[in-house]
Amino acid sequence: MSFSVVDLFCGVGGLTHGLTLEGVKVNAGIDLDPACRYPYEKNNDARFIERDVGELSSDDIKSLFPRGDMKILVGCAPCQPFSTYNQGKDHKNDSKWGLLYTFGQLIEEIQPTIVSMENVPRLSNHNVYKDFVQLLERNEYKVKPFNVYCPKYGIPQTRKRLVLFASKLGELDILPSFCDPNQYSTVRQAIGHLEPLQAGEVSTKDSLHRARNLSTLNLNRIRASRPGGSWREWDKDLIADCHKKETCRTFTSVYGRMEWDKPSPTMTTLFHGFGNGRFGHPEQDRAISIREAALIQSFPEDYEFVEKDSAITFMKLGRLIGNAVPVNLGKVIAQSIIKHLETYS
Ligand SMILES: C[S@@+](CC[C@H](N)C(=O)[O-])C[C@H]1O[C@@H](n2cnc3c(N)ncnc32)[C@H](O)[C@@H]1O
Repeated sequence: MSFSVVDLFCGVGGLTHGLTLEGVKVNAGIDLDPACRYPYEKNNDARFIERDVGELSSDDIKSLFPRGDMKILVGCAPCQPFSTYNQGKDHKNDSKWGLLYTFGQLIEEIQPTIVSMENVPRLSNHNVYKDFVQLLERNEYKVKPFNVYCPKYGIPQTRKRLVLFASKLGELDILPSFCDPNQYSTVRQAIGHLEPLQAGEVSTKDSLHRARNLSTLNLNRIRASRPGGSWREWDKDLIADCHKKETCRTFTSVYGRMEWDKPSPTMTTLFHGFGNGRFGHPEQDRAISIREAALIQSFPEDYEFVEKDSAITFMKLGRLIGNAVPVNLGKVIAQSIIKHLETYS
């Protein structure tokens, strides 16, 4: 039986691309951010539908599956309300909080054979997650969640993700991990081949291999930083006032350099700023470039994110790339689904 996928909250297509590379047909991706259209359609043979998922009817989504195809619905409802940074804040008014309920309601109405949901691990502590699982079980899905540590799947980044599979056919297991710590993909393997850049410079070969400029103070700070070290090792005159306070002494996960022979820290939407995390290049005096972040997210090097000659802003590209599902995690999800379908065919 042929099967195909609709990808809700598809972004620039990290998940779609991983599925596609493994031969899984993705018919369409839906996202409300217009900036996702170009990269999504340019790099994937799938339609981009610029809509708010909350405003789509189940019939709209059903119509995206060819008649007779087994339906697979995948989705990565935005995780901002669940991220560590947002813990403890009041999200009652955050409309994104409800998107997992919307996803659940669509599943109930569409009854796809397989569902894949990806999010931050802390989601599982929230009632919205428990309600989501109960909804799936009520609808006779076998539900299996997995806490995925990306380096164990060859992704050069210490990202942790929750992947939840639900299937009407039986238990759907994630592919066993295949990397021990001594086999983890490293920053060097991901970006070590790119030409050197200075802060503020753009490569002449690839307009996305560009690094943000640094103030004189931040340039001095990164010069004083060693891979894997922290600002605690700097001379006093370089240390930010807030870090001089006793209460902030433990905040060492900013102003750091990556280490060549380890996976990078988790990419965020602000990877382009040296002060925003451990996003300093291992040896060049700058934060990583946009292309380097995309490679660490395991996008192929020729993945196109913007139309030729269009404006490139760090904030926009940071949002698009930092929010993406790593392509190689998409491949793992695809392989898991294919194996499951082979078992139950
Ligand atoms: C975590 S990202 C998804 C990453 C994507 N699945 C991938 O594979 O690269 C979440 C996406 O949800 C989109 N989004 C947020 N609210 C939405 C809504 N109400 N309807 C549709 N898309 C929405 C954002 O624009 C963002 O691209």
